[in-house]
Amino acid sequence: MLECALWAPSACNMQLWDFVVITDKATRDALAPAVPHADKAQVCIFICYNTRFSQGSYANIQSASAAVMNMLLRAHSLGLGGFWQATITDRLLLREILRLPRDVEVLSTTLFGYPAESPGAPARRDPSHLVHWEKYDLTRKPVLPSAWRPTNWTLAQVADYHQARIRAGPRYNKPVASEYRAVRGYLGHALRRAGVNASGKVVVDLLPCTGLYLEAMSNEVPEASFQFVELGRQVAEFVQRRLPRPATFHQYAMTATGGASSDIADASSDAATLVFRLENLPTAERRRLLAEARRILKPGGTLVVVHTNVRSYFEVFRAIRWLIGRRDVQYALHTDPSLGPFEALSNDEVSDLLVESGFRIEHRHGAFPLPPPDEAKHRVRALPRAVAPLAGPLGRLYELTAPLHRFLRPFARVRFITAVK
Ligand SMILES: Cc1cc2nc3c(=O)[nH]c(=O)nc-3n(C[C@H](O)[C@H](O)[C@H](O)COP(=O)(O)O)c2cc1C
Repeated sequence: MLECALWAPSACNMQLWDFVVITDKATRDALAPAVPHADKAQVCIFICYNTRFSQGSYANIQSASAAVMNMLLRAHSLGLGGFWQATITDRLLLREILRLPRDVEVLSTTLFGYPAESPGAPARRDPSHLVHWEKYDLTRKPVLPSAWRPTNWTLAQVADYHQARIRAGPRYNKPVASEYRAVRGYLGHALRRAGVNASGKVVVDLLPCTGLYLEAMSNEVPEASFQFVELGRQVAEFVQRRLPRPATFHQYAMTATGGASSDIADASSDAATLVFRLENLPTAERRRLLAEARRILKPGGTLVVVHTNVRSYFEVFRAIRWLIGRRDVQYALHTDPSLGPFEALSNDEVSDLLVESGFRIEHRHGAFPLPPPDEAKHRVRALPRAVAPLAGPLGRLYELTAPLHRFLRPFARVRFITAVK
């Protein structure tokens, strides 16, 4: 593998790279807090560059990338597993363990080992969305907007982005455990109250995206028959693969002006669910989707909506991130449901939308007026290191104030609404 790396092209064939190879188990264990998975991979190879050389035109990055790719291909041809990992959680510790000289920097980390499993290749994007001929073609491609507000996105762009969300696999879409428990708990409770925990009852999940909560509901209410409406085939296949029992996929057919409807028959479903999805959509599409929910539900059918509350600490953290310059649309590796276009909504806004769409609100609930300990840790991690010590006290504050939480529900980050057609 190293020989292949050394034959990779490099800028001006200068080969100004260094390869630090770590195989020693004790060193790999010591590295693990800085380089996730270093303890599990038998070999870690760090490609380093002197920061005073080859920075121009990104030549150092491009050369290192060529070497990584050669190693990955060679590893694959030998039946080994290779893993290119951008995430380094503690650069100082990494420098210390590798004993890097001051001017030398790690440009890439590649981990190798004997694979425990051989997963299939993850899906690729449609080339017609990506390849521009002769010039960058803004008019024909679903080029994604660099804005986090869904009003700047079309439904087709949201669909394209949702595909991007699932392509890296479910590991990037894990919510914090406390959120998962609360949402799963409410969905199970609301669906049982709606009486759909019986065979022959049909529940339709609207835009499950990663399918996390459709999977949870299928386990929570195993008697019901689940179906789902999605924007694209890749996402639908991803969802289907994770479900304990098959669920029928219905394409949400898009017209040039936005979402239209699925092929589910009028008044055929007993319940529908909409979990953290209104926030992704432009306003007009929210109405269209609720109209679709109403159309497919039987009279008296139940719609369960889960959404992020704009009048909660969610918005405070978003504002802080904005102020410190973290303005990316997608903040990679963040497990928050707010990947991509995402706008937290107020309780009134969602209630009004539901009532205008012909629903009667039956039950409201809220969870997390303050971040629970696991979420506090996770949110603080997205901020500068100096505030890391705040995670502990913030989590404890949540626990100390637990008796007051029911009075603070209007300010809960996660809001639940059960509505009836
Ligand atoms: C520059 C770069 C950085 C990456 N960093 C990470 C990472 O930090 N964590 C991770 O799990 N995967 C990482 N990956 C792996 C990608 O997730 C993976 O290549 C992608 O999902 C496609 O899968 P495939 O390479 O098996 O086709 C990285 C890939 C590249 C090219």
